[in-house]
Amino acid sequence: MDILVVGGGGREHAIIWSLSKSPGAGKIYCAPGNAGIATLAECVPIGVFEFDRLTAFAKEKEVGLVVIGPDDPLAAGIVDAFEAQGIPVFGPRKNAAEIEGSKTFMKDLLHKYNIPTAAYEKFSDYEAALSYLRVQELPIVIKADGLAAGKGVTVAYSQEEAQQALSDIMVSKVFGEAGAQVVIEEFLAGQEMSILAFVDGETVRPMAAAQDHKPIFDGDKGPNTGGMGTYSPLPHIADAIILEAVKTIIEPTAKAMVAEGRPFSGVLFAGLMISPDGKPKTIEFNARFGDPETQVVLPRLKSDLLEIFLAVVEGRLADIDIVWSEEAAVCVVLASEGYPGPYPKGVPITGLDDSQGGLIFHAGTARGADNSWVTNGGRVLGVVGIGTSIAEAREAAYASANGISFPGKQYRSDIAMKALV
Ligand code: AMP
Ligand code: GLY
Repeated sequence: MDILVVGGGGREHAIIWSLSKSPGAGKIYCAPGNAGIATLAECVPIGVFEFDRLTAFAKEKEVGLVVIGPDDPLAAGIVDAFEAQGIPVFGPRKNAAEIEGSKTFMKDLLHKYNIPTAAYEKFSDYEAALSYLRVQELPIVIKADGLAAGKGVTVAYSQEEAQQALSDIMVSKVFGEAGAQVVIEEFLAGQEMSILAFVDGETVRPMAAAQDHKPIFDGDKGPNTGGMGTYSPLPHIADAIILEAVKTIIEPTAKAMVAEGRPFSGVLFAGLMISPDGKPKTIEFNARFGDPETQVVLPRLKSDLLEIFLAVVEGRLADIDIVWSEEAAVCVVLASEGYPGPYPKGVPITGLDDSQGGLIFHAGTARGADNSWVTNGGRVLGVVGIGTSIAEAREAAYASANGISFPGKQYRSDIAMKALV
């Protein structure tokens, strides 16, 4: 069966890499893709918001399945657009993607169904938000309601910082309409963990757990990014806690979405905080694969990803088994100078073809003169190492990452260290 994947980052590269191993996969197209993806799939220059062109392309090529990678076209209803044309598509409809697209919707849903999350208040009026904020204990968390490329959240350690974040969102409107409402939320201390799950209606099949590193610098310093590195599994978090998170958070949320008339189909991704006494609480939900969580989760998948996608789309997820390998995976992101702020593009990359056996997922690359590789994004590459332990996988990832150079290359040197102390 021919397949169209929508998106063009490291996550989509990992999805296509995994799909390409499936005996059932025929030709794979990616819109718009990137230069690394082009080594596995035919990239087509159609943007992720060009729903009419995307659906026409899928029809013309008679693809049997469309897979949506990124959050913003999901929030804008891309799945509904494909379904309206009778094209099988993996991902949640617009009304279900709202669990990521609106933090107020998500918080109200969890509150209504008694699903563990941080205490919160929501505001659409700046003065009211400010009066509330002034009397809160610190630290405190300020969140823009809508999608803000992972940058709409501030964990504030002073009133000044908190009030600045609030005014950026509601007065300066740095995230535009995404900041029309804000959530002011209790700070949760503990260990973060991501659990991604395949979901079709009430059926939940968790994937291997992973942990991201959002701040740009070692020791979780500096501004948040889309994610600087991940690892899976999480040997320092007990299986019982992971199971509790699935039972008390992900499964009840899937049920709640069905009860609300917004059944979720696709990947539901819970960002969780595990308190020092071992209790998981929800920080956020995403309605898609994580980036770069996918880069460490899919290499550990032993089952056929295409079969899983089709089972979700056809509503028979409950009937299939999904098997994960015992191996560990670590992903180190190589980013451009200046990221997460402005960064240059077109910087020549060397060492990309002798990758010392690691898996390399391209996030932002292009071809330069003579078919060379150049940078073309903030996050450039996700370099994955695999091993029998996190320590071994980590060594493989860094060996591979150190073999790749470009001027201004930045990466964290402490990915997965939390699993080793
Ligand atoms: P989000 O975009 O909602 O994942 O938030 C970005 C990051 O902010 C998370 O990965 C956490 O590190 C942090 N964060 C968000 N909400 C909270 C909270 N209630 N308590 C502590 N940290 C938080
Ligand atoms: N790595 C975090 C995300 O995909 O949202």
